[in-house]
Amino acid sequence: MRSKSSIVIRRGAVASLWLALAAGLAAGASANDQAWLDAGRSPDVRARLAVAAMTLDEKIGMLHGPMAFDYKGPDGTETPLPLEAIRDSAGFVPGVPRLGIPALYETDASLGVANPMLVRGGDVATALPSGLVLAGTFDPDLAYRAGALVGREARAKGFNVLLGGGMNLTRDPRNGRNFEYLGEDPWLAGVMAAEAVRGTQAEHVISTVKHFALNANETNRNTLDARADPASLRESDLLAFQIAIERGHPGSVMCAYNKVNGSYSCGNAWLLDEVLKRDWSFPGWVMSDWGAVHGAADGANGLDQESGEQLDAAVWFDAPLKQAVRDGRLSVARIDDMVERILRALFAVGVVEHPPRRGPIDYAAHRLVAGDVARQGIALLKNEGTLLPVSAPLKRIAVIGGHANVGVLSGGGSSQVNPAGAPALRIPIGGNGGMAAFRTELYDPSSPLAAIREATPTSEVLYDSGDFPADAAALAARSDLAIVFVTQHVVEGFDAPTMQLPHGQDALIAAVAAANAHTIVVLETGNPVTMPWLGQVPAVLAAWYPGEAGGEAIADILFGKINPSGRLAMSFPRAESDLVRPRLPNLGAETGADGSVDYTEGALVGYRWYAAKGTAPAFAFGHGLSYTRFEQSHLEVKGGKTLEVSFDVKNVGARFGADVAQVYLTAAADRAVLRLIGFERVTLEPGEMRHVTLRADPRLLASYDEPARQWRVPEGIYRVRLGESAADLGPGGEAKIVAQRFADRAVPFVARVGPTLEPPRP
Ligand code: BGC
Repeated sequence: MRSKSSIVIRRGAVASLWLALAAGLAAGASANDQAWLDAGRSPDVRARLAVAAMTLDEKIGMLHGPMAFDYKGPDGTETPLPLEAIRDSAGFVPGVPRLGIPALYETDASLGVANPMLVRGGDVATALPSGLVLAGTFDPDLAYRAGALVGREARAKGFNVLLGGGMNLTRDPRNGRNFEYLGEDPWLAGVMAAEAVRGTQAEHVISTVKHFALNANETNRNTLDARADPASLRESDLLAFQIAIERGHPGSVMCAYNKVNGSYSCGNAWLLDEVLKRDWSFPGWVMSDWGAVHGAADGANGLDQESGEQLDAAVWFDAPLKQAVRDGRLSVARIDDMVERILRALFAVGVVEHPPRRGPIDYAAHRLVAGDVARQGIALLKNEGTLLPVSAPLKRIAVIGGHANVGVLSGGGSSQVNPAGAPALRIPIGGNGGMAAFRTELYDPSSPLAAIREATPTSEVLYDSGDFPADAAALAARSDLAIVFVTQHVVEGFDAPTMQLPHGQDALIAAVAAANAHTIVVLETGNPVTMPWLGQVPAVLAAWYPGEAGGEAIADILFGKINPSGRLAMSFPRAESDLVRPRLPNLGAETGADGSVDYTEGALVGYRWYAAKGTAPAFAFGHGLSYTRFEQSHLEVKGGKTLEVSFDVKNVGARFGADVAQVYLTAAADRAVLRLIGFERVTLEPGEMRHVTLRADPRLLASYDEPARQWRVPEGIYRVRLGESAADLGPGGEAKIVAQRFADRAVPFVARVGPTLEPPRP
């Protein structure tokens, strides 16, 4: 693949969008004899009718497209971008105007409408918090609202395909893209991704789940062979996608850069044809990642569309694909299938009837959503004594480090949003390789220092950059409270080599904590980090990348305006030696070298691995403290075909707040296990109680039999426990489950795309 940075990027005004389509409609046949434009028919029928009216060239034209920049080919010739494309956006695929079929206008991604490297100048968007914050809310409705927000903004900017949601399971706490994903548990990630997809598609913008699959490390991702036992993949990474697809009905799935078990994801027949399309009956289309296609033959293995074509060694899905059809190596029926899948999604999501419409965006309203995600998803990890919430007005507070005087950090790469209100700070980091251009620290304009000053106007709040620990410690010593902000910037295309905080920030915290026992640490990190200073500080907040309202959200939590309710979607191990792979796979390898990772933990991702090994993490999946207390009682467990678990949750403390009730399976007939089988976020007034009933998806009780392509649930007693986290389990119960075997098709699955099937959630 050629690197993204070899592209000639020209800034420019965004081109007009629908003129070409409108012109085509006017010039072509009327809507009457274009039966596929009849919204009364099913998307499948419409797609078939449209394909029947297309020439081979028109079909092939829909199967590939460039990254939407003018670009130089390998021979130095410049290829100008088609006029109707949105200049400097992620992708463009021409439509067929004579048939009323729109072009695809594609943008990244899950954390807001991206503008990586600010290539579209001042084109701003709402910058949502990290996916780990969103997942940490355990609130599917909020995921829906976040997805809808991105869809709305995308559509108002002229886009009709969103290249999000990212949802790879976070297997390695050093992976450079975990901040785009939804954590380490398949049920949580699948349910949250589904809602984000539904939210986006309700705005008539197609959503894309990615990166399919096992794209769990970024180091040499273009050559990496990610290896894992297929059955355990079905129970983990693939299950997350499966749940997102059957509940969310995304129009498209993006295959990954890496190989899976020896074969590139975008040409991996097992992944694309057998698992996704045959076993799961996925009716949408598979688009490649940008520069992830390795030949026209990928089309015979399940790939439907080549994206970012100028990054590949050749535009495989143009002339070579056509040649393959001429030579009889690829059937016309398969070409039709590819196109039909794309069209079906366009019809099902209502893209044709509701084309993008440029218009104003209510950034103020959207900032509230970004703030809600941050307020509900930031997790209070530790709170010893009575330090938090800070209530009595303190004389002097020291705010230290993390550029807290200007804003909050965000993660880098294709998901980078240029925040509404413009970045507070950009620090070019540099580096080597094709993705180095993405390495710029960008701070969203939400200063924690300003928010803290506002929260406590009678205190003197002083700032120290933290550059010199001795200065910071001296200020802390003269203060009543020290709040240290520490950052870890991670970027797509790179993994963090270790879990250690960079720039000597561990020493900074240690120095400040030694100077003032009242020290709070706020982590603005892409990933879990090691905390050698944990025993020295009474309070730690995991803010991850908290988005464009993150500074205010942090202050609201610290000063008690908001009761923290976020939970960890990823465990924080105590030490790297507790990881499945203590050393980062392929650390130090030459860029582009062949490499592999054996994910020998199989389905035991994250907390499941620590539990299996008996190594307690510092903070486990599901952990997060509140300023009130909850009690869970009256647990009842019913068996049969699956587990139905019901219980009461009561707020027994003095403050309004939200609990995240979590049900873990701890024994399944013949084996000990630990996995989340249900969760519910419950918001309660003091003294209030709610009865919760959760029914487990039977696949969460099962193991997968790959040769038989069946889920198997052995008969026996299944035990569950309620948990405050995966490592803090409370009351338990058990029930008998009957023996079952079922194939994927037996799991209720509506093989259709789009919000037309279910009314959008309010
Ligand atoms: C990323 C994708 C992204 C695409 C388009 C790739 O480098 O892996 O997640 O959607 O670029 O920007």
